[in-house]
Amino acid sequence: MAIASLGYVVAQTRDTAAWRDFATGVLGLMEAPSPTPGGIAFRIDDRPFRLLLEPGAREGFVAAGLECATETIYAATLRQLRTAGVAVTEASAAEATARATHALARCADPDGNTVELYWGRFQDYAPFVSSAGISHFVTGDMGMGHVVFPTTKLAQSHNFFATLLGLHDTDQVTLKLSPEPDDPGLTVRFLHADNPRHHSVALAEFPQPSGLVHLMLEAATIDDVGRAYDRALRAGAHISATLGRHANDRMISFYVRSPGGFDIEFGCEGWQVDWSKFTPTTSLVDSIWGHTWNFGGA
Ligand SMILES: [Fe+2]
Repeated sequence: MAIASLGYVVAQTRDTAAWRDFATGVLGLMEAPSPTPGGIAFRIDDRPFRLLLEPGAREGFVAAGLECATETIYAATLRQLRTAGVAVTEASAAEATARATHALARCADPDGNTVELYWGRFQDYAPFVSSAGISHFVTGDMGMGHVVFPTTKLAQSHNFFATLLGLHDTDQVTLKLSPEPDDPGLTVRFLHADNPRHHSVALAEFPQPSGLVHLMLEAATIDDVGRAYDRALRAGAHISATLGRHANDRMISFYVRSPGGFDIEFGCEGWQVDWSKFTPTTSLVDSIWGHTWNFGGA
């Protein structure tokens, strides 16, 4: 019983125009018909959408859609959550269809982050055409990318995603904030789904008011990333981290603040792991070069 991949992300906004400018003009996504009236949706591959902005009262994250490979796994995962005392709400057929899925259920992790579980994602096979000339995004069986959730309850949150949802431990990064030997530092735990992507979900031990630390999208080439970096600079977007290569998943990326208040990590060259040969590590640095952080800004 496990999660196949990260299927989609839903956020809410009062300003669809700002999101359209950012998602197409900076990220190079393809606008698609929104299944939610008044919303705005974007494709990065042959799924009907991967990023959906619903009209809402505030800017921020709404839910991450995690894909179950089969109806049997979906049903077993819902049973396991309920047995553990987690409230699970099964969506109506209309709601499931609006997410382009066969069946859908919602629950919350111990910090209140909404997770949607589904099986049978619709696929319309229409070609992805980037609004900014991106060659393609790395998706397929590895899903749309990864999300990093904020948590103030790392142990409980890890139990939810690893034990109840069936994601698998990859590794962790522990960043010391002082030279004191007993400084516990801040930990980010990385979990993978049933695919080679280094992680589909990570849990970061710090709060984030927008509800999401970041969403990672992986483009095919370093030139795709470099050109996106140029577009972000030209647009005057807040760069939350300069270009760099992460230590654990080897991703070359930069981070740009979205209109939703959470960051988009835009990367390439993420490690596709052969799990039969993998040994977990604890990285004491997040990056081997670059990624100068600037958490402030709009
Ligand atoms: Fe990331």
